[in-house]
Amino acid sequence: MRIAVVGASGRIGREVVDVLRSRGHEVLGVTRSSGVDVYAAEGLAQALAGADIVVDAVNATTTETAAVTDFFRTVARNVQRAAAAAGVRRIALVSIIGIDRFTAGHYAGKLAQEHAYREGPVPVRILRAAQFHEFTEMMLDWTTRGDTAYVPKYRAQLVAARTVAEKLAEMAIEDNGAELVEIAGPHELELAAAVARVATLRGRPARVEEIVDTDDPDHELQADGALLPGHEALLAGPTFEEWLEHKYPARP
Ligand SMILES: NC(=O)c1ccc[n+]([C@@H]2O[C@H](COP(=O)([O-])OP(=O)(O)OC[C@H]3O[C@@H](n4cnc5c(N)ncnc54)[C@H](OP(=O)(O)O)[C@@H]3O)[C@@H](O)[C@H]2O)c1
Repeated sequence: MRIAVVGASGRIGREVVDVLRSRGHEVLGVTRSSGVDVYAAEGLAQALAGADIVVDAVNATTTETAAVTDFFRTVARNVQRAAAAAGVRRIALVSIIGIDRFTAGHYAGKLAQEHAYREGPVPVRILRAAQFHEFTEMMLDWTTRGDTAYVPKYRAQLVAARTVAEKLAEMAIEDNGAELVEIAGPHELELAAAVARVATLRGRPARVEEIVDTDDPDHELQADGALLPGHEALLAGPTFEEWLEHKYPARP
């Protein structure tokens, strides 16, 4: 099977490429460095020619609501159009658990992306994932000011990016698969506490403080657990602690 992976150089995309290649599939990594811009639709038609399946693991570089919504919606429409023209059988998209009620930022953009994909002619399978274990490192980098990281109150059931990639690859290739699946890790955590574990293992910053981010119109949804998985979600390891042990092995 010939599978085109959009966002192949990203955190989840490169794992999907690795999983699919290890299972013997012919994989085309669609990247800007190879001359394909999925937002501007440059090189996309040529890139998808001959593909049976498309996997979308693209991410936006902005979180401003109008811009991120435009980005994800446009990418979805462009990929749908090019995939239909190329005779692609299905598209598999990685999205996020619990975003239905979100009105702002990245989550609103992802919701617009899901809707735009569903409006297109090519069948779409959506894997809604919880935040990745790796999200704790991103959050630490984004929120550190001086010796303190200011992490919004946020209930999460973190899952490994590799685990999500394995499920996304499976959904992309299997016949008669589900149209919508949720995947999360084994345990619920407070994000600030998880981020504090990473800070301790990295040795910086000295403090992690949980804040209520009232600038974010959806801050109560995050704090109240709107991003937690539903009862039918697939729960899969490694746990956050197992992931930490692997990522930050104890030094002799
Ligand atoms: N992080 C999480 O916790 C989490 C949880 C659930 C779902 N997700 C979803 O997973 C998806 C991927 O996230 P990630 O963290 O793996 O992303 P990432 O590491 O930031 O990678 C983003 C990818 O998108 C590509 N890209 C961006 N703009 C492009 C354009 N105009 N044309 C072509 N390629 C473009 C990038 O390519 P370049 O190399 O050219 O920049 C890169 O390959 C996102 O949609 C996110 O919402 C993330």
